[in-house]
Amino acid sequence: MNKTNLQPITNESQPTSHVKVGESRVNSSEIVRLEHRGIDAFFYAKPVEDFVGGIGNKVKFHENVAKLFGGIDFSSPFYVDAKVSKRDVEAARRVELRVRGAPEEQIAQFMRDSEYLVHNMEEVVSNGDDLVPVQVYSMEPSGYRTLRVTDETDIEFVSRSDAQDRSPDAPGSGSGGAGGGPGGPGGGDGPGGDSENDVDIDVTPKKPTKSFDEDVAGLDTVKQTARTMLAMFDPQKQEQVERLYGEGFASRGGSMLLYGPPGCGKTLVSEAIAHEAKNETDIEDEYGDVKFLEVKGGDVLSRYPGESERRIEAVFDQAHQVAQDGFAVLFFDEVETLIPDRSDDSLQRHERSLTNAFLQEMNDIEDNLLVIGATNMPFTIDPAATRRFPIQQFIPQPDAEVMAQVWEVNLRDLPNADEIDFRRLGEESVGYTPAEIADRVLGSDLQREFVESVVHDDREAITPDTDYLLEWLNDTEPKTVRQYVSSVREQLDDLEGYPEMQRYVEEQAEEHGISLGNGGGGLGDLLASAAGGGSDAGSEGDASEGGGDTGNGGGDDAPGALPEGRAGGGDS
Ligand SMILES: Nc1ncnc2c1ncn2[C@@H]1O[C@H](COP(=O)(O)OP(=O)(O)OP(=O)(O)O)[C@@H](O)[C@H]1O
Ligand SMILES: [Mg+2]
Repeated sequence: MNKTNLQPITNESQPTSHVKVGESRVNSSEIVRLEHRGIDAFFYAKPVEDFVGGIGNKVKFHENVAKLFGGIDFSSPFYVDAKVSKRDVEAARRVELRVRGAPEEQIAQFMRDSEYLVHNMEEVVSNGDDLVPVQVYSMEPSGYRTLRVTDETDIEFVSRSDAQDRSPDAPGSGSGGAGGGPGGPGGGDGPGGDSENDVDIDVTPKKPTKSFDEDVAGLDTVKQTARTMLAMFDPQKQEQVERLYGEGFASRGGSMLLYGPPGCGKTLVSEAIAHEAKNETDIEDEYGDVKFLEVKGGDVLSRYPGESERRIEAVFDQAHQVAQDGFAVLFFDEVETLIPDRSDDSLQRHERSLTNAFLQEMNDIEDNLLVIGATNMPFTIDPAATRRFPIQQFIPQPDAEVMAQVWEVNLRDLPNADEIDFRRLGEESVGYTPAEIADRVLGSDLQREFVESVVHDDREAITPDTDYLLEWLNDTEPKTVRQYVSSVREQLDDLEGYPEMQRYVEEQAEEHGISLGNGGGGLGDLLASAAGGGSDAGSEGDASEGGGDTGNGGGDDAPGALPEGRAGGGDS
């Protein structure tokens, strides 16, 4: 590595565009990469003769630059890397600025002509003999600390009234410069950080407790795919594969996307994968403690511009940190909310930059970090994301046999468990999702019934035998699948990349008398819309239910979809 540790010095009298470095340190490079506290950013270098003013071991820059690093910590190294070039800095697609004290057009022209390197901060730009402040409000693509303005960059100026309504994106919101490694502790959490811009998301690692063997019924193919994937994180297995088949087939384990209808075990399987990694593989011996980090897409989303991207970066930063002394399984539930298809015309600008930010983070995944995403709506995901999740696994709605196991898994602690006819219960609950059984049929109402039998003296203890349980089952209607299918019926074409899912939706639509495509109009549709099927696919809401036929469930355990190279275009 051609980087040197120099002493940082800040001043106010020079523009933010250039940092001063001794000639011998930069050789002939016109650009340097500054790296401090795990954060990096690019600047033009202004070489200074080494003996003048004794710059030899120093690097000088405008004090605003220090904010990018969350302030300067003199006990940590401050690296200057001159082995970089303009090509290392991502081109800016769009920047939003506010200028005071100079004509906007002039600043825009200057930035284009000089291929200005912008940062999320108040830049100070030379204008004749003056320095004018240029507040950078946002930059796209997001996820970079530095972007290069080009002729193609869309430069927009924020008016004074707009500016009052919004705070600029926090300094240091990028995840390192282009090509830079994972950016250490996230933006704004250092002593010099701006507390106003602290990122408001905290992912607490937990020990995975659900296991394939004890808690996940059926899904044999899913388990098999997961075990194979985990094997590729095991260095010994990797070596073996390399020995037998060559290096090309021995790459590290990839990230995994779990998709399928709601309530059929995606979240459960994710935790069980972490449990498997921890308890049934050599991963822990190789890397250290396995931890499970769970993030809900919805918790990341924010209505403030740039905030969702910052949270994504913060989440990945936390995962990198956890992975540092162990192995992290980072699970994104509802992942579709974080990687919406950028070609969707109805998307807002910030939603596209969220996809960019997520994909950018997915490019920098170390060996001891496994990312799992789960979604009910794979067809809304950006095609470029499918390459970041090379292992894609359909989680089907279970058949009777697996439903029997779902009952058993949930009731095996009952004293009379041996006498319950789980097979029968399984057969009767085809058409329900496991979540409907676990959370609704065997949920809080049943618990209350049990508790009341204990609390009230006049009640007798209940024996929850097969008939008793069937009664509870028959008191509830299966709604999830119907609602789900009616909400996705118009998107069948977008399901092409997900054949198991397509087949599943077709089967269930037929089962429930729901017509597919935009045509609409069938009786099933009317019933479905009466049931509140609209857009809330995952919900198990309280909408009144029409119909009430019991579907046949369908959906055998689908074959695992190992890398298929369903490459999409256009990731930035
Ligand atoms: N294969 C299974 N074996 C046993 N129980 C299951 C299985 N699948 C689901 N369940 C039960 O259903 C509950 C909900 O499942 P889970 O949350 O994993 O579904 P999901 O696919 O993530 O749903 P959503 O799409 O709504 O997030 C689980 O907590 C568990 O009790
Ligand atoms: Mg879930």
